[in-house]
Amino acid sequence: MIKKCLFPAAGYGTRFLPATKAMPKEMLPVMAKPLIQYGVEEAVEAGMDVMAIITGRGKRAIEDHFDISYELEHQIRGSSKEYLLQDIRRLIDKCIFTYTRQIEMKGLGDAIYKGRALIGNEPFAVLLADDLCTHNGNGVLSQMVDVYKKYKCSIVAVQEVPMEQVSKYGVIAGKEIDDGLYMVDTMVEKPEESEAPSNLAIIGRYILTPDIFELIELVEPGKGGEIQITDALMTQAKKGMVIAYKFKGRRFDCGSIEGFVEATNYFYELGKKKEML
Ligand code: UTP
Repeated sequence: MIKKCLFPAAGYGTRFLPATKAMPKEMLPVMAKPLIQYGVEEAVEAGMDVMAIITGRGKRAIEDHFDISYELEHQIRGSSKEYLLQDIRRLIDKCIFTYTRQIEMKGLGDAIYKGRALIGNEPFAVLLADDLCTHNGNGVLSQMVDVYKKYKCSIVAVQEVPMEQVSKYGVIAGKEIDDGLYMVDTMVEKPEESEAPSNLAIIGRYILTPDIFELIELVEPGKGGEIQITDALMTQAKKGMVIAYKFKGRRFDCGSIEGFVEATNYFYELGKKKEML
């Protein structure tokens, strides 16, 4: 039902400088796999096969990653290392990758808007690859698709965070309509602790209905000229058309060094456990 997933990947990744000076943040590897590949795998698991990636200057490595490297393929064909490319080859065969550039970093709302031509007039997912999510059962996007099937409106994934961290997120409030599901009526972008309507923070997973594009056009730039997606979502929320979903699973904030190291340790231990089985 939802076939397309948008990946805003145009940001500068300044928290990872100098590593991100010439390399996209989305290509930082947790173990041997780049963050954006985890994201594409999650989207495929949720039934999507068109990956619409919003890139910017210095992000060519993302396009090369989702392409065949003939020289490399030739070199390792028939060797004991060939299996290392299996997963990425499968993704390349299965998916269509489309790209467009965000020329200036004008915020997440603007990055999503730049994907309009790639998405068209259908509901779509948005995945921020620096939020790495994992779950034993269905992945987070897959869980959200199930919620979408029932409610047919925009869905944002939320997580409870300590109050002292709310200022890093978009924060929602609303009526709990089912276990872990909230009909959103308030959304505040990066609030002070004292002004936060709750501790339910939006993380990097969304399902959006296509009217969002017209709503983004109406958003006035906020702090630093940034177009916030939460402003456009708030217009939908006023009509009862946004649901927040407290997802099942664990999220690592790989946009920060601390979260990135945590994810690396987690996946390393997981790999060791699997080897022992
Ligand atoms: P972040 O603010 O976490 O990413 O945006 P950043 O700006 O790259 O990181 P720092 O703060 O400088 O270290 C969340 C996501 O939205 C994308 C980013 O690429 C990231 O995946 N984004 C953000 C855009 O694509 N365009 C924007 O204008 C802003």
